[in-house]
Amino acid sequence: MPKERLDKLLASQGLGSRSDMQKAIRAGRVTIGGTVCRSPADKIDPEDRELCLDGRPIQYRRYLYLMMNKPAGILCVSRDPKVPTVVDLLPAEFRRKGLFPAGRLDRDTVGLVIITNDGDYAHRVLSPAKKVVKRYQALLDGPVGTEEVKAFAEGVKLADGTLCRPAALRLLPQEPGPLAEVEITEGKYHQVKRMFAAVGRRVLWLKRCAIGGLILDASLPEGGCRELTAPEQALVWEKCQ
Ligand code: URA
Repeated sequence: MPKERLDKLLASQGLGSRSDMQKAIRAGRVTIGGTVCRSPADKIDPEDRELCLDGRPIQYRRYLYLMMNKPAGILCVSRDPKVPTVVDLLPAEFRRKGLFPAGRLDRDTVGLVIITNDGDYAHRVLSPAKKVVKRYQALLDGPVGTEEVKAFAEGVKLADGTLCRPAALRLLPQEPGPLAEVEITEGKYHQVKRMFAAVGRRVLWLKRCAIGGLILDASLPEGGCRELTAPEQALVWEKCQ
């Protein structure tokens, strides 16, 4: 892998800001292959020699993959001048440059969001051609039945004439109200809400529960996040149609 400036590289691992890292380096707290390095501008290949901070080895990772349980009221973008975003919610240990949500949820939608700095991975998750399945639960303003299930399976036509791909609609036990589960393989603007609107129903609450075979960790509180393991990262390709 190409060499990078030491201060930049350490900051990219969520160990602190670049100026924090410059101070740590100048204070002699960083070793490269066992030798103290006091020059923040030194260029190194992190896969070449062991890097330690305060004697503790740094497990270098180029990319970070996080699962977040998005709360309502938070924007699903990297930055916004007014409203808090999913990236703003990240704890200090995960904060670093270049993180963004792989896909948008509406401000009032809750549930599973993947946050990463790996553009290729995010692109593949979002690519309509990949047909990654996204599963949602929707609380509706009234019941749906076999007619709506059939309409979704055939491909709903939205109010503006856009034809959606066939989608699986399942009726869930009616608690706490008319609850349905829907699986879609594309990501049009407000898609689930517009699909229900097309069959005469309003979505009162919407949660994304799964992306492919990756299911939202039920132990994550709202606003909580954790790293995805490598097998979990690959689970999103499961059920691709
Ligand atoms: N469909 C919607 O309508 N909203 C979302 O946030 C996601 C899918």
